[in-house]
Amino acid sequence: MKRVFTGIAELYTPYERLEQAALAVQDRRFVWVGAESSLPREYRSWPRTDLGGRGVVPGIVDAHTHLVYGGDRLGEYLQRARGDSYEAILAAGGGIYATVRATHAASEEELYELTRARAHLFLAQGVTALEIKSGYGLLPEAELKMLRVIKKLKETLPQRVFPTLLAHVVPQGWARGEYVAMFCQELIPEVARSGLAGAVDVFCDQGAFTLEETRKILEAALSHGLKIKLHAEQIAHTGATRLAAELGALSADHLEQSTPADWQALARVGTVGTVLPGAAVILRKPFPKARAMWDAGVKVAIATDHNPGSSPLYSPWLGMQLTISLGGLSAEEALAAHTAHAALALGRTDLGRIAVGAQADFAVLDSRKALEGLYRWGHLPLWKVFVGGTDCV
Ligand code: NIG
Ligand code: FE
Repeated sequence: MKRVFTGIAELYTPYERLEQAALAVQDRRFVWVGAESSLPREYRSWPRTDLGGRGVVPGIVDAHTHLVYGGDRLGEYLQRARGDSYEAILAAGGGIYATVRATHAASEEELYELTRARAHLFLAQGVTALEIKSGYGLLPEAELKMLRVIKKLKETLPQRVFPTLLAHVVPQGWARGEYVAMFCQELIPEVARSGLAGAVDVFCDQGAFTLEETRKILEAALSHGLKIKLHAEQIAHTGATRLAAELGALSADHLEQSTPADWQALARVGTVGTVLPGAAVILRKPFPKARAMWDAGVKVAIATDHNPGSSPLYSPWLGMQLTISLGGLSAEEALAAHTAHAALALGRTDLGRIAVGAQADFAVLDSRKALEGLYRWGHLPLWKVFVGGTDCV
């Protein structure tokens, strides 16, 4: 497949801004990017799509989602809006446990259909790659059920899907040590053997897993050749961020309670620091200090953390806007955080970028201005979305 895209009024790579640009795509990757006036002769005879003087940004990458789940938590949302705490609801057997019950009750087909519909809402907003975690099964068979749903989504969605096995909380009725041992000795080896996930994540926090338990799970994952990432410093400061850096995790996510020492550790090894504006704002937690992290040298990413409890957020654009207003990033930095930096949190340098050799995933705004989607709150003027150079929306 060969195609040239012309008529781009403004383009963010995201690191550079071009005007009157053109792109050449061959076999789903960019083979040329630059000013339309300097498009080399060899590409001029290729099939052409004129984007009509519109703005273009890289495909949005959402590197932290819990997109597969049964039921909803509207009741809990209303309770929290009245002042009840997320932590107390979880400790009383609600919260994540409520979604576990609803996810157990749903069939594989139901979970697939529910998630496919959600993924489509994301695609329509320019999300061309997304990570999807398990973690609402808890029991081995139910975790594998979730991962099979994610596998089917990976095979059928237009987007690129990255499956992650999540150790979320200890199931009710299990001894902690027994569950951690099962996770390390049965679930991780089975997932590595079957290829159902490429990474393992742990919710290391008050009410979930301790730092010691987290280390055991992550070391088991590494010994089976899986990548690792962490839910770190959301509710309490546990040291999870420094553990993530020590073990070479792809990313440490949340970071509401993180400290300058944590940021230095991330910056030193290049582990991405992912902020989740939905969870911070919806749970009324301190907003992660994205500006200070960025200035400390951390590769800062933004993700929706879409889930039915702490972050029923469907809009990466709102996530970027909140991080601009409350986290202190510039609009250009926020775009990089939800594209190229988010791709690094998936271990990929060929996604979230408009550059020669990268996958040809991009979003076309229905505006001459590429950053119009960050300016308008609650209205996204998006024209088309391309994955691998093919129009998907
Ligand atoms: O990333 N922090 C833990 N896990 C999810 C929330 C899951 C839930 O509340 O259902 C999160 O915020
Ligand atoms: Fe999460």
